[in-house]
Amino acid sequence: MKHFCNLSDIEYLPQWLERGAALRETPDMLGTPGQGRTLCLLFFNNSLRTRLSTQLAAQRLGLEVMVMNFGSEGWQLEYADGVVMDGGKAEHVKEAAQVVGQYADYVGIRAFASLQDREADYAEEVLNGFARYSGVPILNMESATAHPLQALADALTLEQYRSKEKPKVVLSWAPHPRALPQAVANSFLDVMKRMPVELVLTHPEGYALAPSLTEGVQTTHDQGAALDGADFVYVKNWSSYSDYGAVLTQDPAWMMTPEKLGDAYFMHCLPLRRNVVAADGVLDGGQSLVVQQAANRTLAAQLALEHLIRNNP
Ligand code: CP
Repeated sequence: MKHFCNLSDIEYLPQWLERGAALRETPDMLGTPGQGRTLCLLFFNNSLRTRLSTQLAAQRLGLEVMVMNFGSEGWQLEYADGVVMDGGKAEHVKEAAQVVGQYADYVGIRAFASLQDREADYAEEVLNGFARYSGVPILNMESATAHPLQALADALTLEQYRSKEKPKVVLSWAPHPRALPQAVANSFLDVMKRMPVELVLTHPEGYALAPSLTEGVQTTHDQGAALDGADFVYVKNWSSYSDYGAVLTQDPAWMMTPEKLGDAYFMHCLPLRRNVVAADGVLDGGQSLVVQQAANRTLAAQLALEHLIRNNP
C-alpha cells in the first residue's frame, strides 16, 4: 500500500512540478479516477486552506468526501501500547483507525505536534498510527513534523515565478507570540534541497531545526546577510527544536519589512499575524505570493490524491 505521508513519497519531483503546472492550465486534466470511492478527512486541528483545497481537489477527481473535526468532535485517542486506559482517553488508535478504514477508501490526517515530547512528535504517532492500523492509504495534511502538501504547493509557486535558473531562496525565522511546530519549515527545507536553488536558512540562536534536515544547508544567524540578493524569501515562525517547543525570543527585529524584502518575492504558508511576522507593506505590496501559494494547494492535493488512487487501485 502506498501512502502520501511525506515528500519521500514523490518518486520524481520535476515530473510532479511539470504536471502541477499543466494542471493549473487544465484543472480537469486528471479526469475523475476517484469516482465510486470515498476520502475521509480527519482534522485534529484547525484549518482553512488544507480543508478547502483538499476537498476541492478530491471533488475534481470524482471522490466523495467526508470531513470530521476529530479534535473537537471525536473521542480522545490513546496511541501507546499496553496502557491501562482509565484516564481521559476513551479509544485506542488501533480500533479508531480500523473503524475509519471501514468507511473510507483513503484517509487524510491533520495532527499538529504536541510540542511537549520531541521523541513522540518525531515518531509521528498519530499519522503513523492511522497508516499502520486503518488498512487504507493515508494522506498527510500536516503532521507533527511535516507538511508535504504545503511544500509541494510552495515548490509549484517557486516554479511559477522563477526567472533565474538558480534563484536564491531564503528561509527566515520570524517572531510569533505562540509556540508553533517545525513542520512547515522542515518540509520547505526538504523540498528546496531537491530543487536547483541557492538555499539559505536564517534564524536566531536556539532555533536550529532537526540536523537531518539542515545538513548541507547554508545557515546564518545574520538575517541581513542571508537576505542579501534574495529572489524568494520564505518567512515562518517555529519553536525551538533543541529546547523542544520553547519560545526563546519574540524579537521584533526579525519581522519581515518591505525594506528588508527588497526586490524579492515574499512567501508564507498562512495563516499569518500581520505586523508580527510580516509588516502590512509586505503583504499588501506586489511581491507577496501568499495567495498564489494557497491557490497551488489545490494542485498539490490533486497530485497527491491522484497518486494515492493510481497506486492503490
Ligand atoms: N497553510 C495551511 O496549512 O493552512 P491551514 O492551516 O489553514 O490549513
